[in-house]
Amino acid sequence: VNTDVLVLGACIMDFICYAKYLPRPGETIKGKKFETGYGGKAANQCVAAARLGSKTALISKLGADPFGDNYKEHLLSENVNIQQVKFVEGQTTGIAQINVSDNGDNQIVIVTGANDSLTLEDVDNSRELIDNAKVMVCQLETPVRATIAALKCFKGISILNASPPPAENSLDIFTVPNILCINEHEAASMTQRKVPNLEEAKRAINNFMCLGVRCVIITFGRLGAIFASNDDPKPIHVRTPKCEKAVDTTGAGDAFIGALAHYTAMDPTIPLVQRVGAAVHIATYSVQRKGTQSSYPSLGDLGDFDIKTKKFDWS
Ligand code: RIB
Ligand code: NA
Repeated sequence: VNTDVLVLGACIMDFICYAKYLPRPGETIKGKKFETGYGGKAANQCVAAARLGSKTALISKLGADPFGDNYKEHLLSENVNIQQVKFVEGQTTGIAQINVSDNGDNQIVIVTGANDSLTLEDVDNSRELIDNAKVMVCQLETPVRATIAALKCFKGISILNASPPPAENSLDIFTVPNILCINEHEAASMTQRKVPNLEEAKRAINNFMCLGVRCVIITFGRLGAIFASNDDPKPIHVRTPKCEKAVDTTGAGDAFIGALAHYTAMDPTIPLVQRVGAAVHIATYSVQRKGTQSSYPSLGDLGDFDIKTKKFDWS
């Protein structure tokens, strides 16, 4: 089976409360609206790529419960190859409790459930998919051993979204993928130093490059993204296009990564700055709409957007 974008990681049901602001510890506040959605970083990234036209496949685990059944149907409706999405008896489907405030910020607690059962055996069982994919994407919501094994045997272009950041700084894993992609909070947690601005993001990037990471992209919310690679060690900053109002930033990072994977699979010779620019464009589209996957664009939503000719704002 030939796949453009293969994603390994979590499927999670999102339970989203919209409220005026995010509650402080000990505080109870009244929310405005409640919604459920399909989430989990891997599934989000996979669906983002699929909507843009990539042939996608997912390696993941669902609980043997109604959430799992619904999730499977949903993935089918998004044209994702689910040959390696398996049900785990006696486990619940992963869930996320998400609060979203009026200014579009969020906080998330995940309970990964069935996703914890993604093991080396699943990687072995997925060898045919792994050997025939152009781009593979992993995160850190599922057990890291399987992730490393998959990255190590993959021959195409690999992207690791080190999210959530590893508890212990197991830095050697970051040199395995072709591209390491994190947000500014994850960069701070991984370098144990605050990343409040682009200058610090550049410093963090240099840190990672010194450790042998081949290409680092740090996404920075409304500031866009900043990246550097062995080929181009001087950090480049890509700004976000003008955006009306962020209504929900949940899963915007996943929209970015799914888009990056899609355009990389489409044509890896497109300059990285164009691919990052396109990924910023897709993520910006998603923050202007509610929900996670439900806010990701399909090709038809992008009008005459063309990654090859579009002039992005970068320096
Ligand atoms: O990145 C956003 C995702 O993180 C949400 O969909 C939630 O499921 C958590 O995994
Ligand atoms: Na959104």
